[in-house]
Amino acid sequence: MSVPPSSDLRPPLPSPIVPEQPLTALAPMQDVTDLAFMGVIAHYGAPDYFFTEFFRVHAQSKPEKHILRSIDENKTGRPVFAQLIGEDLHHLARSSIELLRHPVAGIDLNMGCPAPKVYKKNVGGGLLRDPAKIDEILGTLRQTVPGLFTVKMRIGFEDTQHFERILDLVNKHDVDLLSLHGRTVKEMYRSEVHYDYIARAVERLKCPVLANGNITSAATAVRVITQTKTAGVMIGRHAIRNPWIFRQCREAFAGRPITPVTLAEVRDYIVRLYEATDHAGLPERDHVNKMKKYLNFVGQSVDGTGAFLHDMRRTETQAQLFAVCDRHLLAEPDKIFADEPYPGVIARPNCETPSANADGCSLETVTG
Ligand SMILES: Cc1cc2nc3c(=O)[nH]c(=O)nc-3n(C[C@H](O)[C@H](O)[C@H](O)COP(=O)(O)O)c2cc1C
Repeated sequence: MSVPPSSDLRPPLPSPIVPEQPLTALAPMQDVTDLAFMGVIAHYGAPDYFFTEFFRVHAQSKPEKHILRSIDENKTGRPVFAQLIGEDLHHLARSSIELLRHPVAGIDLNMGCPAPKVYKKNVGGGLLRDPAKIDEILGTLRQTVPGLFTVKMRIGFEDTQHFERILDLVNKHDVDLLSLHGRTVKEMYRSEVHYDYIARAVERLKCPVLANGNITSAATAVRVITQTKTAGVMIGRHAIRNPWIFRQCREAFAGRPITPVTLAEVRDYIVRLYEATDHAGLPERDHVNKMKKYLNFVGQSVDGTGAFLHDMRRTETQAQLFAVCDRHLLAEPDKIFADEPYPGVIARPNCETPSANADGCSLETVTG
């Protein structure tokens, strides 16, 4: 049996953009964190690290071409970790080796996806019920990946009974970085986040931890890092809402005032996102529908009454969509886009639970 690579021989984690500052990462999001979105985010201020949406691993799997593009054509200047979801040891190892031929910063294992169709196959969040299986998987991946091997997980499945045991496995297998979403699988996306568990992980683990879950603003990032003592934060939905958030985090970490964003700048973001997500053969109606999924998050900071969201959701054409943007964003172009979502303005009402058929986390199924 070969010996796992010594941690002395592995590369260090890539340095943050501003040396000595806490780390920031864009959370992996299926159907969101693709090449186009990464480019848009980098335009407004890249995070230190990117993670791909998950590559599915099974007997017949090959790395999905569209996800590979976010690695091979990454022009953000920042490292990208390739995320895998699966449970078969042989095929996880095979897929890691395939992905290591591409310019990845490391291999990341998904142990958090809460979609029933996923966890029923004992992958993603489903693994959190089975520490013995986690032991095997982490052992195999550590053995296979000579460089950085990272894990993203939740604090448990139904409850947190295996939490400490799983953290000890993360230590045992010399994982290089843990991104921890402070909710159980059953808590999905909208319960409060248990930052106290994230703090416990920091105390118990040898590797750095990224705090994940409801990091809504740079001020929240500072507060959570202070409370949990993590090495940094991982931000998902609130980077869709506010792509300036990583730049704002760096300002806050440096103790500088946060540069506010105006509604006119938000319109610029929407135009950029529209152009970046366009591709040959995409019907206008589908493109507008795709944009609405991002704008559900953006709308949480435009006005406190949800008027932008209301009007935006009723558009069907590009012209209608941008007419709504002009009406709501250019009437008072210098008005400030709120740092935090307005209370009660919800990205997608009535849609907390993914349908039984959803085979992942997509914007179709996840609320703000
Ligand atoms: C649309 C969407 C897709 C997601 N896809 C993935 C994924 O592919 N892999 C993963 O580990 N987590 C995925 N997640 C979970 C996020 O990475 C993150 O853990 C979660 O959204 C909580 O962070 P936030 O409050 O900053 O959004 C997804 C979340 C959303 C909203």
